[in-house]
Amino acid sequence: MLNHKELRKQITALTAEYYKARFEEKEFVPGKTKVNYAGRVFDEEELQNAVNASLDFWLTEGRFSEEFSSKISDFLGVENVLLTNSGSSANLLAFSALTSEKLGDKRLKPGDEVISVAAGFPATVTPIIQNGLVPVFVDLSIPTYNIDVEMLKRAITPKVKCIFLAHTLGNPFDIDAIMALAKEHDLWVVEDNCDAFGSEYKGRKTGTFGHISTISFYPAHHITTGEGGAICTNDPQLARIVRAFRDWGRDCYCAGGDNNTCGKRFSQQFGTLPFGFDHKYVYSEIGYNLKMTDIQAAIGAAQMDKLPDFCESRKAHFQEWKRIFSKYPHCFITPEPTEGADPAWFAFIVTLKDNCPFKRDDLTKYLNDNLIETRNLFAGNMTKQPAFIGKNWRIADHLTQTDFIMNNTFFLGTYPGLTDEMFKYAEEKLDEFVKQY
Ligand SMILES: Cc1ncc(COP(=O)(O)O)c(C=O)c1O
Repeated sequence: MLNHKELRKQITALTAEYYKARFEEKEFVPGKTKVNYAGRVFDEEELQNAVNASLDFWLTEGRFSEEFSSKISDFLGVENVLLTNSGSSANLLAFSALTSEKLGDKRLKPGDEVISVAAGFPATVTPIIQNGLVPVFVDLSIPTYNIDVEMLKRAITPKVKCIFLAHTLGNPFDIDAIMALAKEHDLWVVEDNCDAFGSEYKGRKTGTFGHISTISFYPAHHITTGEGGAICTNDPQLARIVRAFRDWGRDCYCAGGDNNTCGKRFSQQFGTLPFGFDHKYVYSEIGYNLKMTDIQAAIGAAQMDKLPDFCESRKAHFQEWKRIFSKYPHCFITPEPTEGADPAWFAFIVTLKDNCPFKRDDLTKYLNDNLIETRNLFAGNMTKQPAFIGKNWRIADHLTQTDFIMNNTFFLGTYPGLTDEMFKYAEEKLDEFVKQY
């Protein structure tokens, strides 16, 4: 019988063959094959890593988690990367960390206000409400689809303690302006980088400007682990607090399987516990368990090697849509990067002009009927969503652009799985549609 190392070698080689047989290139048939807005892009390396992690059968954070988080850390240039089971969990943990009593007077408290936007994904706002704080919704600007900085300035009152924003669809918000305001008013900044992993602002990666930032690895995003996310910070205290919130609230920060990393496992005083109570079972936060498995991390570690190419592909696809939609300037407002930004676009966002001869929903129905997938800008206007009606939030001034976006805006994919044939087909279909009017 072969030993386990030999068997692993054979299984790994067979997995590559399996990949070729099962997943390699499918023919694009116009009108029959879907032009997805997003999807996982992978090859045999992700499958082999997933299989190898399964053969390790370590299951919880292990060697692949270490590899994955250190690749993220190198890519972004951040000190601390904590893996989690989703981008939403990453947002919840990043925000919850700021409520920790370990931060003293700087901690966020119930009733404090947090600046955000209403045209976004709910996971950027729900942690604010879940922690008993109050979202303050500021309008967006078109064509960057990021927060209106002038309105944001007017929205800051002594009750505002934090700014929690996503880089909309990969386009960085006006980071210089927001970081300057945060400094002036002593506000925390949480960067939801879930849609912008690889975007840059003035030569530096997004996710490195705020006090803390998050990533999502859901399949629609820049890289995937299926479900998954990460929290990034250069602040060692915040990193320890996030870890505690992520790992049941426990104070101990030993890696799985390790003991006594701090060297004081049985010689500290905590709360009103007896002196020397085992640090492994000391809980200093009201926490969760939102950790990632090593199988997910193994897939992510392979995906990280592809991320730079994925970002270039997203940028090229954005330009292709831009060329196509720019043929109809009387109908469409096409998106623009924020000044100083080089976005790794999550999507190509389009708004129909006021005097456009057709409606957004006519066009998106037509595109979807022709198997070209579209999406709206997530929740549209969050204040109108059933879950948010009657909750404790405030509109800064007005949400005129947000409402306009809710009614007139949609997006198409830029993900690396799109091909020249798909763009040719989509362009023909759009031409056909617009010619009817
Ligand atoms: C901006 C933004 N933040 C957070 C999330 C949540 O990430 P996840 O789906 O991994 O929970 C998403 C959606 O996927 C998102 O678009």
